[in-house]
Amino acid sequence: MSGRKNVTSHYHEIYAGWKSDPEGFWADAAREIDWFSPWEKVFDPDQDVYGRWFTGAICNTCFNAVDRHVEGGRADQAALIYDSPITGAKKSYTYAELKAEVVALAAVLRDHGIAKGDRVIIYMPMVPEAVFSMLACARLGAIHSVVFGGFAAKELATRIDDARPKLILSASCGLEPGRIVAYKPLLDGAIEIARHKVEHCVILQREQQTCELIPGRDTDFAVAVTRAKASGRDVACVPVAATDPLYVLYTSGTTGQPKGVVRDNGGHMVALKWSMENEYGVKPGEVFWAASDVGWVVGHSYIAYAPLLHGCTSVLFEGKPIGTPDAGTFWRVISEHGVVALFTAPTAFRAIKGQDPCGDYVKKYDLSKFRTLFLAGERADPETVKWAEQKLDRPVIDHWWQTESGGPMSQNPVGLGQLPVKYGSPGVAMPGYDIRILDDAGHPLEAGTLGNVVVKLPLPPGCLPTLWNADERFRQAYLEEFPGYYKTADAGFIDDDGYLFIMARTDDIINVAGHRLSTGGMEEVLAEHPDVAECAVIGMADAMKGQIPCGFVVLNAGVMREAGDIEKEAIALVRERIGPVAAFKSVVVVKRLPKTRSGKILRGTMQKIADREEWNMPATIDDPAILDEITEALGRKGIGI
Ligand code: COA
Ligand code: AMP
Repeated sequence: MSGRKNVTSHYHEIYAGWKSDPEGFWADAAREIDWFSPWEKVFDPDQDVYGRWFTGAICNTCFNAVDRHVEGGRADQAALIYDSPITGAKKSYTYAELKAEVVALAAVLRDHGIAKGDRVIIYMPMVPEAVFSMLACARLGAIHSVVFGGFAAKELATRIDDARPKLILSASCGLEPGRIVAYKPLLDGAIEIARHKVEHCVILQREQQTCELIPGRDTDFAVAVTRAKASGRDVACVPVAATDPLYVLYTSGTTGQPKGVVRDNGGHMVALKWSMENEYGVKPGEVFWAASDVGWVVGHSYIAYAPLLHGCTSVLFEGKPIGTPDAGTFWRVISEHGVVALFTAPTAFRAIKGQDPCGDYVKKYDLSKFRTLFLAGERADPETVKWAEQKLDRPVIDHWWQTESGGPMSQNPVGLGQLPVKYGSPGVAMPGYDIRILDDAGHPLEAGTLGNVVVKLPLPPGCLPTLWNADERFRQAYLEEFPGYYKTADAGFIDDDGYLFIMARTDDIINVAGHRLSTGGMEEVLAEHPDVAECAVIGMADAMKGQIPCGFVVLNAGVMREAGDIEKEAIALVRERIGPVAAFKSVVVVKRLPKTRSGKILRGTMQKIADREEWNMPATIDDPAILDEITEALGRKGIGI
């Protein structure tokens, strides 16, 4: 346990206050938001799957994130700072400038027929226009769905078919260190594959690589926005119900079909606004930086919405923690822009630590404004947390959440006064979350015992009310196994002091460099290879990325081709179908897969072999010799030895 903490923390009192009167608690928090008209009920348990927050209220998220700050004295304060070590570009937008960009883009969208409730996909790199796009949709009451740029055409097509967008906002290219990622062929490919036909695309031409526009379908982003600005048109914020969707964000499920997590307008604003001061300890006017990507939930909540709702300056960083140009980039950004809080994934710190173990770069920059480092997205290993604490000489706060929650479920809430840090634990339950540990039969487990991490219903404001067009899938995936509770699909325990420890997923999701990926989805792709009879994918430990996938394929009888060729094709197939973000670089051709007598593939045992962990022969194994074959095959690749 680390001794660093404030003398007093209000956490226990605040949490108890929420528990005794949840509706009163959230009604108080909701007073921080400007509503066009107030709610009839703070929470209506009878609406939709498990109830809805702030029913009857009318609001607009863009108004709260942008307009009210312009009207309320922040017009000249920086709202968004774009810093791209990849291109060398730096640009700052005040709240007034942000509003001008968003209004103009909203006019462009409206000219393309976009209105309340329409879906708009945003497939963009880390440029300010991505945030303008999200806010322009919010302004019109349109529902955005941002797709991460590291996903390939097929993944984009799946999302197009599920969200059925009228329009896609995209860019000519993204920039990865040493590589230009042409987005347009991926976009065109996805539109070609998708069954749902997209009517319009608005494309941002980036100077690093422009693209051909398709006449009649594609519009040049900058040209259209410039024209809209010149016309001086105003586009007012469209009133929406608090319960109307603000966005749908797809996240990996247990199959190749991603889950469309729905976020509402009202509850989302209330929860995020509350989190900034109380959980992150950040004040309006301060600079907050989430070094993530707008394609992930962290980017939605803590690059775009929360800092802006709170009147902060948000940093949008197009770069990597290392290699753009060096392991000091984070410290350069913090010192140059006066960042008070940085939020990133532990993997970024493992990468920095790998290149700058002594923290020499840290010493080169003035970090005097910097107060706190927040880590989430994957387990923060104590080694990395301690290294960061020591090199930065500041609190390092691990916190746990999911795409589904949209904000922290468990944290050390520095804004309420820091509690002692326990290494390996992302802290205590946040108000709104009654976190329990249950055994597989749904019985409560005592402190310290590992089990299923669940949250007692109802979920608080900001959490998903359902999945896009899939109430039944929502019930089945999250609510059925433990009646009355939301299943997080994480396994962990709570200690005697109420600290949560997250140990593993209970499904086939793996976490690669803080990115959530489905091994089931990768297996579906491998199974498409014509020579593959059977396959399995596991997540194996990786020193920098936390986990990386490893595939096993069994070939069809009679296939005489070189195993090496098939392995290369399998790797290329996953990259082509899912995208480079899958980091799928290891695959082994094996004779057979180990299974139980009932035919269940023993992925857990294979993972232990790959990770050189101790393992016991599963009692139900069909043929124990297969595990020797797996060990040998992995060994030939230098894995597990
Ligand atoms: N568009 C296109 N390709 C992308 C992409 C994007 N937006 N983002 C990543 N990729 C590609 C990368 O170029 C890489 O391709 P490669 O196999 O050809 O090298 C692949 O996807 C994997 O990317 P990434 O996971 O970023 O790994 P990396 O090896 O390039 O960098 C880290 C490793 C640790 C530096 C990097 O993962 C990182 O900065 N992580 C920070 C954590 C984070 O952002 N988490 C999100 C949730 S908080
Ligand atoms: P995502 O939906 O991409 O945010 O991924 C959510 C999953 O990441 C969780 O269910 C956990 O498995 C894992 N995760 C996120 N944050 C943490 C954390 N602080 N500690 C351990 N695991 C985490």
